[in-house]
Amino acid sequence: MRAKSFNSSENCFVLNTGHKIPAVGLGTWQADGDICTEAVRTALEVGYRHLDCDHLYGNEVEVGQALSEALRGGLKREDVFVTSKLWCTTNAPKRVETSVKVCLKNLELSYLDLYLVHWPLTFSFGDATDPPRKPGMELRQPSHRLKATWQAMECLVEKGLVNSIGVSNFSIQQIEELLSFAKIIPAVNQVELHPFWRQDDLVKFCQAKGIHVSAHTPLGVPASNLLSNECGSSGEDECETPRIAFRRCRSVHVPMIKTSVVANIAARLNKTPEQVILRWGLQRGTSVLPRSLRPERIKTNFDIFNWSLSEEDWKKINSLEPQLRLIDSGYSNISEAGPLQAVQETDDDIEGI
Ligand SMILES: NC(=O)c1ccc[n+]([C@@H]2O[C@H](COP(=O)([O-])OP(=O)(O)OC[C@H]3O[C@@H](n4cnc5c(N)ncnc54)[C@H](OP(=O)(O)O)[C@@H]3O)[C@@H](O)[C@H]2O)c1
Repeated sequence: MRAKSFNSSENCFVLNTGHKIPAVGLGTWQADGDICTEAVRTALEVGYRHLDCDHLYGNEVEVGQALSEALRGGLKREDVFVTSKLWCTTNAPKRVETSVKVCLKNLELSYLDLYLVHWPLTFSFGDATDPPRKPGMELRQPSHRLKATWQAMECLVEKGLVNSIGVSNFSIQQIEELLSFAKIIPAVNQVELHPFWRQDDLVKFCQAKGIHVSAHTPLGVPASNLLSNECGSSGEDECETPRIAFRRCRSVHVPMIKTSVVANIAARLNKTPEQVILRWGLQRGTSVLPRSLRPERIKTNFDIFNWSLSEEDWKKINSLEPQLRLIDSGYSNISEAGPLQAVQETDDDIEGI
């Protein structure tokens, strides 16, 4: 049941680049200001060695502050794995290097462990709302753009700015397209995964190709009512990524937790339902990126290593229904057919390049 690449002594997976990705990462979406710094601080103290960041989240300065403190306090840079992502407005090849440099500056780092193409889409430069507000501003990504974007990503590895590159929210079809020209095979595909959106075929496909899969939204709770919709950061923003209007998404967390299957397993093992769900994610060979701002939850979400689900329990969770995508923005529904198929270039797109 354990994925071949799982290293149980270090609780990490080995990527196709040879680098190790810790199996549990702290998600940082919708984590604001001092609360964000404090959450990262707590996570590093508890033992997290993997931070899932994004320039778009507007909080890389706050993440960087906690990380820098830890590094000054003796944590070695090579012992922490930091991911960031290239947003859809800045994936024109000429903007890729600037984008990663902005992340590095805000995070106070000299390299990233992983940099991901956030979505297989392009939006107009300067329109950084999510999703784009103006009709017609959302552009589908033509395949030649993806190729050029990927080549620019490959250059980041050559320049030592990032150790590994990957993608996020890519379907099987989109990865096949990417593999047809990639010199560097993506190390990771980060996608929404939880018991109510298992994406079995995608996970199997990626694993067969040597692409590690990371689970975002692993608890099925995409929206937090603790926070405002506007994420603030004093960070540098040469990418012209203004404050983001977050989508309101439905949540399957409560139904997932209330499911007698998960609740019964948790009660029998004396674990929380969230721990059971995260452990299930690990046992299918995916790293998991739960986000919490509460110290107690940050701690328990990490305590999923020295025990396991039986084959029987694991299979029960594998058969939960219905299947329901949460991060269902206006653009995710084009992912199956693939925006790569829809080559409808516009003047904005050309200008964006
Ligand atoms: N690549 C992408 O497109 C993409 C998309 C979405 C997310 N992500 C990444 O994945 C990370 C996780 O996804 P997510 O933040 O959307 O959702 P999530 O981790 O599934 O859920 C986060 C929510 O769950 C709550 N929570 C955390 N631990 C809990 C526990 N033990 N018991 C009860 N509630 C708990 C948190 O509230 P409290 O803070 O109050 O605990 C928060 O509201 C993100 O932060 C981001 O880094 C990536």
